[in-house]
Amino acid sequence: MKKNVLIVTGSDYSQIVYQGFEDAKALGCKLYLLSDGSFDPMPGVFEEHFTYDLRETKAVLNFMGSQSVKFDAVTIKTSEWLTPLTALLAKQYGCVGNDPITAFNCRSKYHMRQQLEKGGIPIPKYKLCRNYEELLSAVMSIGVPCVAKPVGGNASYGTFMIRDKSDLKGLKGNYEAAIKYLKMKAVSEDMFAFDQEEMNLIGVPDHVDMVTDYLVEEYMAGPEISVDAVTQNGKTTIMGIEYQIRMAPPCVMQLAAKLPYVCNKKEQCLIEDLIGKTVDTMGILNSATHTEIIFTQECPKIVEIGCRIGGDDLHDTIFTVTGYNLMFESIMVALGVKRHYEKSIRCHTMMKFLIPAKSGKVEKIFIPPEVTDDPNVLNVDTLVCEGSNVYVPPQGSDYIGYVSAKGKTPEEAERNVNKAFNKIKISIQ
Ligand SMILES: Nc1ncnc2c1ncn2[C@@H]1O[C@H](COP(=O)(O)OP(=O)(O)OP(=O)(O)O)[C@@H](O)[C@H]1O
Ligand SMILES: [Mg+2]
Repeated sequence: MKKNVLIVTGSDYSQIVYQGFEDAKALGCKLYLLSDGSFDPMPGVFEEHFTYDLRETKAVLNFMGSQSVKFDAVTIKTSEWLTPLTALLAKQYGCVGNDPITAFNCRSKYHMRQQLEKGGIPIPKYKLCRNYEELLSAVMSIGVPCVAKPVGGNASYGTFMIRDKSDLKGLKGNYEAAIKYLKMKAVSEDMFAFDQEEMNLIGVPDHVDMVTDYLVEEYMAGPEISVDAVTQNGKTTIMGIEYQIRMAPPCVMQLAAKLPYVCNKKEQCLIEDLIGKTVDTMGILNSATHTEIIFTQECPKIVEIGCRIGGDDLHDTIFTVTGYNLMFESIMVALGVKRHYEKSIRCHTMMKFLIPAKSGKVEKIFIPPEVTDDPNVLNVDTLVCEGSNVYVPPQGSDYIGYVSAKGKTPEEAERNVNKAFNKIKISIQ
């Protein structure tokens, strides 16, 4: 298979993802990387590493169009904010992929809600708010408890809950603090607003500001899962369901996760049905998807869906649990190679986030070798460097990193992750 494959990314990859690249190369693929140049990929993997300011969607398309190499496939691992660019590039080269507007509808939580509503998918009541006055009026009309979250958010940045009327006192302060935090993230990290020209290029009818526009949503109470799946020609196969453990309300930060989610056949069918319908409604045809569901008393409802592989350790834990490498699968789907899956559960995993105990400067992150050398430990990843500032709710919602481990049973996985977690020491100034 002599094919040129372009991988779009905002960050570097784990060993298991690189293994997926090697597997594609072993089939004859030539891999190319497009990033913002913020890291050096593993040497010898990519034929060429194109670097550009990936916030400049239109300019990136011109930059790639001016290269002599052309591509047979364009795909992505997890970088949520780059999914519309990936779809635009796939379209530019006439490759298999999702329509740019589909990717945008997954990217903007407002447009996602509109699509899901049209398709009759169970979702909470929602309202778009462009300033504080609109936010206050949305909270009054939706009622409490409710959740406020930025339209273009990720990693729960700027998301907060209004539990009851007494939270209205702090609403303006919380909203203003969140906007300040989001504007900072928009510059320093992976969140940005498309400009008018770019939204026209994608075909967005009603424009939004991805950083400062908010959604107010009815609060969905109940346990939460995330579902990673692969969709090929509109047919969806679930590859991993993860049970998420979150902070107690009003915080929404994720604390930990267990994979696979243990449930009965009936619940499994319910999840499969909901995921299939959600993917169809969004118009996702060819890519990995990551969907979040809350089981409310009424029924399971969709929190959100992305046309990409799940973040944090999900790619690697799904590989450990099922033997399937979703990066490799995403490349095959993008190439239009017919896939068939036979699933089995090889082990259980648990991941725990390392969360700062208070806001401040990270002084030291100490990960002893006995943690990294432990054969049951799958991943220890830090998301911030020593010396950087981190914020805890309500000022922000930063993670220091995470650790994950495996075991033969969910209980063994939990014991193993706790053993590693308790040995990691973080000091905050
Ligand atoms: N309407 C809601 N009701 C209850 N909880 C909600 C609601 N909307 C969001 N949440 C909580 O906030 C979390 C973050 O929201 P959402 O997934 O929409 O944003 P995100 O920034 O993409 O987050 P992440 O990257 O953490 O998944 C959800 O996983 C869920 O726990
Ligand atoms: Mg989410």
